Amino acid sequence: MALVGTKKMFEMAYNNGYAVGAFNVNNMEITQGIVEAIVEEKAPLILQISRGAREYASMSYLKGIIDVAVAENPDIPIAMHLDHGDTFETCKQCVDDGFTSVMVDASSKPFEENIAITKKVVEYAHAHGVVVEAELGQLGGIEEDVVGVSHEDIAKHLTNPDEAVEFVEKTGCDSLAVACGTSHGAYKFKTEPTLALDVIQKIADKLPGYPLVMHGSSSVLKEFKDLINKYGGDMPDAMGVPESAISEAVKMAVCKVNIDTDLRMALTAKIRQVFAEKPREFDPRKYLGPGRQAIKDMVKHKLQILGCSGKAAECM
Ligand code: G3H
Ligand code: 13P
Ligand code: ZN
Repeated sequence: MALVGTKKMFEMAYNNGYAVGAFNVNNMEITQGIVEAIVEEKAPLILQISRGAREYASMSYLKGIIDVAVAENPDIPIAMHLDHGDTFETCKQCVDDGFTSVMVDASSKPFEENIAITKKVVEYAHAHGVVVEAELGQLGGIEEDVVGVSHEDIAKHLTNPDEAVEFVEKTGCDSLAVACGTSHGAYKFKTEPTLALDVIQKIADKLPGYPLVMHGSSSVLKEFKDLINKYGGDMPDAMGVPESAISEAVKMAVCKVNIDTDLRMALTAKIRQVFAEKPREFDPRKYLGPGRQAIKDMVKHKLQILGCSGKAAECM
């Protein structure tokens, strides 16, 4: 089976109260770790590529890696998705490059402008059989290439449920990323995690049957934070979204959950451990290999939280 879009995945996820994991890829080891976990768990998969990933690895290398994953695993539905496309031109390029799903993120623009850009992307993408995720409201935090709002301002930037309805009607986007208090990266909260799950519920009530997306959904697991800090890292204040909140959200209407930071932390923790325990090691396979295994274990764990293990067949 070739790469697929997300329509069927979201339909099944919505109807059965689970979510599909969308994992960011930047190189071969990350992709292999994710795919190995997905294959063992028989789960549907969204592999997502940010603008930074395209710049880092080049699209032809990433596409080559993903093509191999698809060819070797015909029983697994895999979508290739652009994460945070910032302009119409970027989204168009990705449609032309063979992505099956693109995100246009004009959420930092005024409402009407966000609608106009999103609508233009939807028209082009749909004409080429590609689905579109858009974003309304703003995530907190600031990460490279992805502009967000300060943590203090988060409450003001949560997605407005009435605007969400108008936005979806006017743009025709296939799924909507909503702001509910999450942010990108490893430093999501300063004290207690606070999420506005009620906002998700309100949007879900107003848009029955419509798939929502949660960005910034890494949990910054203690085990990996501790490993990083033990082996020379310095991230004592890292904090993520509690996994219990993710489980609640996927039972509402959240059909896609974006995870990048937890994979980065798993890889980093393992590499730091190898370097600390084997200071004479210099063969990349001897630290990237364990790093790839750590990613695989992390993804398997995530699939349990998302509830999508064993769902590959129904999403084909
Ligand atoms: O949304 C952000 C993802 O974590 C991708 O991050 O832009 O550094 O590749 P990146
Ligand atoms: P995390 O930084 O929480 O992993 O979020 C990733 C994301 O939203 C990618 O779009
Ligand atoms: Zn994101």
